[in-house]
Formats: sequence, C-alpha cells, structure tokens
Amino acid sequence: MKLRETARFSTICIHAGQIPDPSTGAIITPIYQTSTYVQEALGKHKGYEYARTQNPTRSALEGNIAAIEGGKEAFAFASGMAAEGAVMTLLESGDHVVVTDNTYGGTYRLFERVLRKYQLDFTYVDSSRTEAIAAAIGPKTKMLFLETPTNPTLRLTDLAAACDVAHKRNVVVAVDNTFASPYTQRPIEFGADLVIHSTTKFLNGHSDSVGGVVVATRDDHIEWLRFIQNAEGAILGPMDAWLVLRGTKTLPIRMERHNENAMRLAEFLAAHPKVTQVHYPGLPSHPQHALAKKQMRGFGGLIAFTLGSLDNARTLLNHVQLIALAESLGGVESLISHPATMTHASVPADRRQQIGITDDLVRISVGIEDVDDLQEDLQQALARIS
Ligand SMILES: Cc1ncc(COP(=O)(O)O)c(C=O)c1O
Repeated sequence: MKLRETARFSTICIHAGQIPDPSTGAIITPIYQTSTYVQEALGKHKGYEYARTQNPTRSALEGNIAAIEGGKEAFAFASGMAAEGAVMTLLESGDHVVVTDNTYGGTYRLFERVLRKYQLDFTYVDSSRTEAIAAAIGPKTKMLFLETPTNPTLRLTDLAAACDVAHKRNVVVAVDNTFASPYTQRPIEFGADLVIHSTTKFLNGHSDSVGGVVVATRDDHIEWLRFIQNAEGAILGPMDAWLVLRGTKTLPIRMERHNENAMRLAEFLAAHPKVTQVHYPGLPSHPQHALAKKQMRGFGGLIAFTLGSLDNARTLLNHVQLIALAESLGGVESLISHPATMTHASVPADRRQQIGITDDLVRISVGIEDVDDLQEDLQQALARIS
C-alpha cells in the first residue's frame, strides 16, 4: 500500500502513517504493549530503545494525524491538556500570550492557575474581532492561542486574518481545533503554526479514550516537542494510540453525519418557542455565518442554546432520555451538558457572564444516531418546560 502525494482526505485518514506490520503483515498496526525493546548488541537496535521515547503504535498515530491536519509532524500526549501543556513549554518566563476569551475552561485553568506561577502572562480577547487581537499584541507577546469555534458559544475567529496579524509581529499561532475536527477545519491551511487536539473528542470519536495531540509545521517546534514529549513523559499509551487510530479511519463519514444531524437539530431548536437563542455557525442567523462557510467544511457537531432560565435548562437536562447528560463531546452518541456547572465550572461566575456562558445555556454534542430519534427526544423534553 503506497499513499500517493495526491491522495485525498478520506484516503489519508485511512492509510497515512501506517504500513502493514513488518513482522506479520497485519494490516492494522498492532498495539505494541511493551516498555522496552531488546537490543541485538551494544548500540545496535531497530530504532526503538525505550517506550516513553518511541512506540510503533504511537508513531503510526502521530504520522496519521500529522497528515490529516496537513502538518509536518505530530506528537501524541496523555490528554488534550497534556498536549496544551507541552505547547506552552515553547515559551519562557516573561513571555505574553494572547488567548481567545471563551476558550475551554480547562485551558483557562491551566493558564491562570498553573502557568502564571512560571511568570507567563495571558490576555484574553474576543478573537472574533481581529482588531482586538492586534491591539493585545505587545513587545512580549510570543504566542496567539486560538480556539474556533469556541466552547461553548461557538464564536468564530477568522483564522487567515488572525495568522496574518500575528505573523507580522513574529507571534506564533497555536489553534485548538478540537471542536471542529480536521474534517471540518484545517487551521494550517490558513497559516497556523501549531494545531492541538483533545483526541478524546472527534478524532477518537467513540468515547473510549482520553488523549491529545500537537501537530507542528516548524522544524524548531518539532525538535522541541520531540524533546519535551520524552523529557516530561506525558505520552499517549499504545492502547489509546490504537483506539484513536481506529477512530481516525472513519472521521470523514462520522463528521458528515455529525454535521448533517447538528444542522437539522439547530434548525429545529431555532424554530421552537421554548428556545430563546441558538448558537450554531450553520444558521444564517449566526453573526459569522459567512466566515463559517469560508473556513469550515460543514458547521460542526456542537450546538449551544438558551432556554430563558436555569430552571428551564434543568427541566430539559433532566428529561432527555436518549441524549445522555455528560461532559465531553465528539463521540458517536449524543451528549447534553450544562457548561456553567460542568465544563466551565472552573471559570469564575463573573467571567462566565462576560463570555456568554449564562446559567440557561445548554450544549449538545450531536451524535450520529438517526436524527429523527434525537429530535423526538428533544421535543418531548422541551414539552416539559412550563
Ligand atoms: C476544546 C478543548 N480543548 C482541550 C480539551 C482538553 O482535552 P482533554 O480532556 O483530553 O484533556 C477539551 C476537553 O473538553 C476541549 O473541549
């Protein structure tokens, strides 16, 4: 099996980074569940010495995701947060980072509660306004950390414009592409230097593994990330690497269905009298619908909407039957959550208000079930709201 230069996205997802196992011909890369490798003689080995440093299952996944995102190399970590932590080690004390203001709560916690201790400084801006990014960049700014669409209010950043502004000032651009997945959005095509994923979400897609990955384009970043992956050791284990590799093979067809189902449910919710507002980039009412059409393929599997009060939100969350009340997103099954008390509980209440995470906001990660079943479930739960 040889992948040609011209191979298209779905073909890349299935084949990139993997060769039939050299010892047996197994078409699927085995789970190399080993901690070390026997060396033939002193200084003579097959390229594998110790499994924190190299593991063939992990390497296959890293090659696969690097190709899927259109980067040069990828590095897999024990979680999305570990991947973010590794990226931040590219910085030095005194450096300043400009960050999308309603980024994932765990990202905010890492930056504010951990990395400030090491004299890194962060400014949070509404990155949907490119001029706000430009204004926040100062002499010490070394990185622009973007999340688009944002979690959970699905605001978009114009990636091409943001990368342009940052690069003119020698600022590295890192994009957390977890929410969109590389099927829906490929930040490197718009100029991003680094792409981060929680592979826990759409890349794995089956809600049975926690992991993270960093895709890099620049040789200096690649050299450092390879070093830090080994030096800090927050690697993805072989079983999880195998699970994610299984997941990426079906990424395109899963994403097509996630996108289709989410569009249908967003339209249904927008027309429902109990729903006060729907945030979904695919709706013409979304303030950045035109940008979504330009930089995304489909509009993603996440919808957020408001119901007028916390009581109404609670009623809905307590009465859905098929859609499971749970944190996380991107799996084949639909999940519903309450960002203010679940994913974003670590963000202070006043900040939550500022960035639109109100108490009546509900988020759905739309799965790939039959959309009629999902709609009926929402319909019966919404009917419980008085
Ligand atoms: C956008 C985003 N980035 C990063 C993370 C962190 O990933 P993990 O939970 O795999 O550490 C999450 C988790 O929900 C997320 O939603």
